[in-house]
Amino acid sequence: MKVIILGSNGQLGSEFVDFLEDKVDLFSFSHKELDILNLRVLIEKFSVIKPDIVINCAAYTNVDKAEDEEDIAYLTNVIGARNSSYVSYKVNSKIIFFSTDYIFNGTKNSPYTELDEPNPLSIYGKTKLLGEINTKLYNPNHLILRISWLYGLKGINFIKKIIDLSKVNEAIKVVDDQIGTPTYTFDVVKQTYELIKKDYVGLFHSSNEGFTTWYQFSIKIVEKLNLNVEIIPIKTEELKQKAKRPKYSVLENYNLKLENLNIMRHWNEALEDFFNKYKGKFI
Ligand SMILES: NC(=O)c1ccc[n+]([C@@H]2O[C@H](COP(=O)([O-])OP(=O)(O)OC[C@H]3O[C@@H](n4cnc5c(N)ncnc54)[C@H](OP(=O)(O)O)[C@@H]3O)[C@@H](O)[C@H]2O)c1
Repeated sequence: MKVIILGSNGQLGSEFVDFLEDKVDLFSFSHKELDILNLRVLIEKFSVIKPDIVINCAAYTNVDKAEDEEDIAYLTNVIGARNSSYVSYKVNSKIIFFSTDYIFNGTKNSPYTELDEPNPLSIYGKTKLLGEINTKLYNPNHLILRISWLYGLKGINFIKKIIDLSKVNEAIKVVDDQIGTPTYTFDVVKQTYELIKKDYVGLFHSSNEGFTTWYQFSIKIVEKLNLNVEIIPIKTEELKQKAKRPKYSVLENYNLKLENLNIMRHWNEALEDFFNKYKGKFI
């Protein structure tokens, strides 16, 4: 099986590279090596490689910055999704796209399923929703996985931010009124691989199980890593972030469960595993 990974230096992209290296014929491209906005080069590369699967991990992911950089967020998440989907279709390949819990507005107070209507609050959320639409539109052989609050070894994430902040602060303020599910890159990769092996298509919510708040999540991180810092719970309004976030964005892996495909663990178990594997590497 020939697999192309786009955005291979990101959090999720690099996890895919590690996992698939010894399982498939792998062609991974970082942003520098292949820009998904360059349609001509995408066509050239895909035509030569003739992949079976294209995994699009390339994205604009800075939620607050996107409010000021709408054009580049739109280009990357919407036009880039169109390009990679269209070119994968041209070479008879499946396209895989990752979306987010931030496509929902957070007014529901039970987990969001694939049946719920998206209504994003932020530019980032809007561009990801349009990215889903473009992925579907240009290649019927698509998989779309919606994930949330992602963390992994490489790249920037909440765990690393807490570690970094704890080195220069005695106390850190963390919001306690946004509810969601931390999700480990390794689990997303394994779940995606299950779907690839069984040749599934369509839309799947694919977060770890359970839920928490950013505050409770940070407490777990501090305890687990013995960080010498106090965590102070605050309300979202106090943070004055540029982008609005959903107050509640727990994803129910409804389709995965209905089809007996769900292998996502509880977020606590996944986090435990992550710390056991990498504890020494980022402290
Ligand atoms: N992070 C989260 O909490 C989260 C939550 C839900 C869903 N997701 C989704 O999950 C996916 C993976 O996220 P992630 O956290 O792994 O993101 P990430 O760490 O920010 O990685 C994204 C990668 O895409 C690359 N990239 C940006 N523009 C590109 C372009 N035009 N052509 C090729 N590559 C480009 C970036 O390279 P440069 O850095 O060099 O520009 C970066 O390596 C994304 O679709 C994201 O929307 C993420």
